[in-house]
Amino acid sequence: MEFKIKTGELSRLKTPCLVIGLFEKRKLTAPAEQIDAASDGRLSELLKKGDLDGEAGRTLMLYDLPGVAAERVLLVGCGKKKEFNRTTYRKAVAAAVALLQQTHAGEATMALHVPLPDKTGLYLAVRDAVLTAEDKVYRYNRTKDDKQAPKTPLARLTLWLADKQGQALAERAVRHGAAMGTGIALAKELGNLPGNICTPTYLADKAVELGGRFDALEVEVLDEDAMAELKMGALLSVSRGSRQPAKLILMHYRGGKPGARPIVLVGKGLTFDAGGISLKPAAEMDEMKYDMCGGAAVIGSLLAACELGLSINLIGVVPASENLPDGAANKPGDIVTSMSGQTIEILNTDAEGRLILCDALTYSKRFDPALVIDLATLTGACVVALGKHTAGLFTPDDTLAGEIGRAGEQAGDRAWRMPLWEDYQTQIDTNFADMANTGGRDAGAITAACFLSRYTKDYRWAHLDIAGVAWVSGKDKGATGRPVALITQLLLERSGALEPSA
Ligand code: BES
Ligand code: MN
Ligand code: ZN
Repeated sequence: MEFKIKTGELSRLKTPCLVIGLFEKRKLTAPAEQIDAASDGRLSELLKKGDLDGEAGRTLMLYDLPGVAAERVLLVGCGKKKEFNRTTYRKAVAAAVALLQQTHAGEATMALHVPLPDKTGLYLAVRDAVLTAEDKVYRYNRTKDDKQAPKTPLARLTLWLADKQGQALAERAVRHGAAMGTGIALAKELGNLPGNICTPTYLADKAVELGGRFDALEVEVLDEDAMAELKMGALLSVSRGSRQPAKLILMHYRGGKPGARPIVLVGKGLTFDAGGISLKPAAEMDEMKYDMCGGAAVIGSLLAACELGLSINLIGVVPASENLPDGAANKPGDIVTSMSGQTIEILNTDAEGRLILCDALTYSKRFDPALVIDLATLTGACVVALGKHTAGLFTPDDTLAGEIGRAGEQAGDRAWRMPLWEDYQTQIDTNFADMANTGGRDAGAITAACFLSRYTKDYRWAHLDIAGVAWVSGKDKGATGRPVALITQLLLERSGALEPSA
């Protein structure tokens, strides 16, 4: 989609559709008042018919308003004026875009952020509009004939500003939002692809393709021989149960000063998780194609960084593998040696994410990272603990916890901190190896993070368990692209392109 910022007299704007807001009990927003005046009170006259009250997300399309240059005027409910906040605002934008997709307009001019939602500045209001619009227009069509696809998809969205004062800031917000949106869309698409298309090799090929598109991005893929050379015994033990060879994808983005310590993003790229010998139950097992969403978010975040040309050094590390039951697969009780030298007793072959991540985390040490963040659909227990609204955030570093928490809040892509106290570590003790790969039923998300913590002692580290947020189930089943927005927000702040969020 294309986005623009425009100022000028609203009623004289030539656009296929002008989108304006209405508060509850038919209270006009400032732009709606302008249109009402230009149309000589026609708008308020029409509203008296009672077809739209202003409830958040409800819409009403009007045609041929006298004195108004726009071909259509779309009225969107913004809820109660006093309660107008970021959530109702995003809901209003989403409703407008959904309706526009069903019309023949193809482009529109939006004035929904006037007045600004509670505590949301212009920058965020504009960026949210871009992100919400991109989210709404994304459609998966790679493996089906999308018969319900809009005939005239919304291709251009102009965001209207009352005056030129905020123009530069709004244009920056558009640029940032569009780049984030591109990264999110890529993460969604990779997530939605089925396991028989999106294999470790496919993910690696996509990353290599991106490397070819940007001068600042260099992509390298390690095969199983190279991983064996590095003694990645934990990672390779998982891929042994599958016919698809594992890949270790390495993406180097060099936008910062040469030699400046990089941020390293590590993403779980489990392209299908059947559980291995500890086979999962059949119900909803298809959703385990989403078990590579951490890897997809890493690739999407690197794309966003490239698009933004961030002044930062950034490295993506994606261990990619399948987890299937085969004669050569891991068996419960097997003991493997990780790249770190620590031995692991595999009590449950379905706890494979930590096995592929631990070697990728050990490998990441060589980059002398300023910070390592891993993204992983790691545990069902995290979904039980936090539901589908927020990711689980684990780090021993209080400062980092604050920074990531605030970035998530700012991006509308939340993460909530969970404890990582020593007390939990004993749950993964075993008589037969340095650690077990599971710690029993209690605190499953925390003991998984405890496992990872044993491989991340040499640098600042945070772990995001995205099992609940990476995709939605049910009728609207699909990947969300989370947490690309959170990560990009953090990168924008770290590279100095944005003030750190207060
Ligand atoms: N990929 C799953 C985690 C998962 C499950 C994410 C359901 C989203 C929805 C992971 O590999 C896994 O199977 N974890 C096990 C760990 C257990 C065996 C200790 C789990 O959560 O059940
Ligand atoms: Mn599993
Ligand atoms: Zn898994």
